[in-house]
Amino acid sequence: MHQPPDRSGARSLDPHLSRYAARAEGMTASEVRALFAVASRPEVVSLAGGMPNLAALPLDSLSQQMASIVAEEGMTALQYGSAHGVPQLREQICEVMALEGVHGHPDDLVVTVGSQMALDLVTRIFCDPGDVVLAEGPSYVGALGTFASYQADVRHVAMDEQGLVPAALEEAIAAVRAAGKRVKFLYTIPNFQNPAGVTLAVPRRAEILDICLRHDVLVIEDNPYGLLGFDGQIYPALRSMDRDNVIYLGSFSKTFASGLRVGWALAPHAVREKLVLAAESAALCPPTLNQLVVSRYLATHDWKGQIKSFQTMYRERRDALLAGLEQHMPPGCTWTRPDGGFFVWLTVPEGVDTKAMQPRAVTARVAYVPGTGFYADGFGSRQMRLSFCYPPPERITEGVRRLASVLAEELELLRTFGPTARRAMSGAQAPSPDTA
Ligand SMILES: Cc1ncc(COP(=O)(O)O)c(C=O)c1O
Repeated sequence: MHQPPDRSGARSLDPHLSRYAARAEGMTASEVRALFAVASRPEVVSLAGGMPNLAALPLDSLSQQMASIVAEEGMTALQYGSAHGVPQLREQICEVMALEGVHGHPDDLVVTVGSQMALDLVTRIFCDPGDVVLAEGPSYVGALGTFASYQADVRHVAMDEQGLVPAALEEAIAAVRAAGKRVKFLYTIPNFQNPAGVTLAVPRRAEILDICLRHDVLVIEDNPYGLLGFDGQIYPALRSMDRDNVIYLGSFSKTFASGLRVGWALAPHAVREKLVLAAESAALCPPTLNQLVVSRYLATHDWKGQIKSFQTMYRERRDALLAGLEQHMPPGCTWTRPDGGFFVWLTVPEGVDTKAMQPRAVTARVAYVPGTGFYADGFGSRQMRLSFCYPPPERITEGVRRLASVLAEELELLRTFGPTARRAMSGAQAPSPDTA
């Protein structure tokens, strides 16, 4: 008889368990995904998700343009296109990248379904199971998921407030070599990093590139936030300094509309062909209509002005978060001070486990992402990512106040009972999200 599917998540009840490919082992729900349902309730201030805030977009004129694209170019817009992407859009993307000093050729650029697909493609063409990938610690959860799905072996490289530490990179490469393995690539988010909010200092950029070149390590530069500097500052892309050893990933998700799913990869010329073939096998081609929408937007809107208004909006939210942390956080907490992007990385005092504390925070109607989700190796239990992109400033302030009181209570219990007692209690007391 037909059994209803088991939704409990208990793996042992999955009748297909023995059928999965080994690579499916690494596919597990991210911390961010697990939080999504709870954090999106209206009573919860979500400092968890990284959803861009689209409120400032000119929706009326965009909808007119979309209608006219279908009316005027429907036979192209609704048809398959090339795996490479729409030629005109590729040229326009080259103009966008020129703002960061990148002078790429449109032929070396592949349009993808968000930069997430570009991440998938580069991992697909470079990584065999067990290959080593270096990534900042912490790093973007979506990239870690992709690396896991290709069974790559992720090693984290330390960051400080100036971004990736060059000496730590040298050490990591040497350690991998000493173990008889090869690093396939360094994955890095140089600007306003997700989740840490730090930016790679300009003098370090050449140093990092030099280390990678000397050790024959390819660089994957993931840069979705680069134009969202709060003072309009733009840092030179790594790709602008080395066109042969850097694959640059870009996206319109944070500077225009994430739902259109338009991103890109600019590869060294020699790699371009493999990328196009991989893109073809993954999706045949990126959606033509969406590419034409982005293309028309770039051609007819003041997109630079739009990015300025995003910068202003996100800066106000960043200010609200930092002011709230300054005012409310108990002693012993430290945090980063991003000058762009969406995220602040908070470190709490010794003994507090941010994942164990999470249900209590949700009960207090505030959500964050525990730090462990941003590491492949279980590190990050004293950290959390706070995003300031979505809620309005006054909600952010209220969210930080709630978070600080949960943390203060946690610290009080730790002082009274010690970490062991706290751990034992936390299991018994963790409320279900429904009691929030
Ligand atoms: C660092 C980083 N890379 C890539 C992505 C994926 O973006 P896209 O919407 O272009 O797929 C994100 C999205 O949050 C991100 O933060």
